[in-house]
Amino acid sequence: EKGGYEYFMLKEIAEQPQAIADTLLGRLSERGEIILDEVRLTDQDLRDVDKVFIVACGTSFHAGMVAKYAIEHWVRIPCEVELASEFRYRDPILDRSTLVIVISQSGETMDTLMALRHAKEQKARVLAICNSNGSTIPRESDAVLYTHGGPEIAVASTKAFLTQLVACYLIGLHLAQIRGVMYADEVAAVVEKLRATPDSLRTLLARMEDVRALGRDLSTASTVLFIGRHVGFPVALEGALKLKELAYMHAEGFAAGELKHGPISLIDQGTAVVCVVPSPAGRGVMRDKVVSNIQEVRARGARTIVIAEEGDDDVAAFADHLIMVPPTPTLLAPLMTTVPLQILACEIAAARGNDVDQPRNLAKSVTVE
Ligand code: M6R
Repeated sequence: EKGGYEYFMLKEIAEQPQAIADTLLGRLSERGEIILDEVRLTDQDLRDVDKVFIVACGTSFHAGMVAKYAIEHWVRIPCEVELASEFRYRDPILDRSTLVIVISQSGETMDTLMALRHAKEQKARVLAICNSNGSTIPRESDAVLYTHGGPEIAVASTKAFLTQLVACYLIGLHLAQIRGVMYADEVAAVVEKLRATPDSLRTLLARMEDVRALGRDLSTASTVLFIGRHVGFPVALEGALKLKELAYMHAEGFAAGELKHGPISLIDQGTAVVCVVPSPAGRGVMRDKVVSNIQEVRARGARTIVIAEEGDDDVAAFADHLIMVPPTPTLLAPLMTTVPLQILACEIAAARGNDVDQPRNLAKSVTVE
């Protein structure tokens, strides 16, 4: 049932290229338009939206954080992301023209369900992104876009996360298309890149041996820090979450720019810091900022594990370990950069003798508040 893999988690990591392809299937036209007729919101409903709230927990929340960057950039409407357990007890300002996107792999997470009900009471329109057909969250939502990741057995979310990202990209591009904020050829250009991601990911997955070895090596570390900027920030948080949940190890993710506002004092001789470097293409300025953050931590003794884009060879000078990922446009990069972090966490957990698929104290779907 594990298809020859040691853990469901490894199997599900390997399934990610197919899961992305399946989530795109039938939702893109030949000409590179987004087709989301299955989502029961009319074009007029979507034109009326003047604010987006994304609400979720855990890994799904990290997908929402990435979506905020994409939606604000492509659609040019305000987008907020919030943890479901916080949103629920706040008085968010919502009305009929607010689109609330709830993201849940299981569709049964109680915190997210309560947040959804809270949004509906205030007449907001709720769109669910969900991986489980017919579960409670999509049933109670006004509309749903299913991720086609297939069943996810391991408690740690992997393929569900990447397919949630894909669903968010589709929604963002669809909104931009309908509202006329992006030209058809601009949407088509992103679509072409999205279509290429399964193949790029297959290439990346084929050369993860070094990352596995690094995982074994890091298994005795007492703490691992993760830094990233822009969409690399949620990737850093996701890398840290995977490590906490699977390896029972102290791990923290930071926005790279926040280091100097406190966390940099954590760095000591040999502290492992995983650095997610933005693509040098497009907004090269962000890449340079992260590289200087890497130099800052290195100057204080950190052991740096650098995830960068192929071709960005200059970063090698600042990396104790370098992991190269295939080039992808900035907003889509989490589809690549997250994957080595999943493998790292899996390997560290296994080396520590932990139950990778069923970590202690956790359940696959959290149906209590
Ligand atoms: O089923 P959901 O997407 O609503 O679950 C949300 C979180 O409980 C979940 O993502 C959790 O953080 C994962 N175990 C992380 O790997």
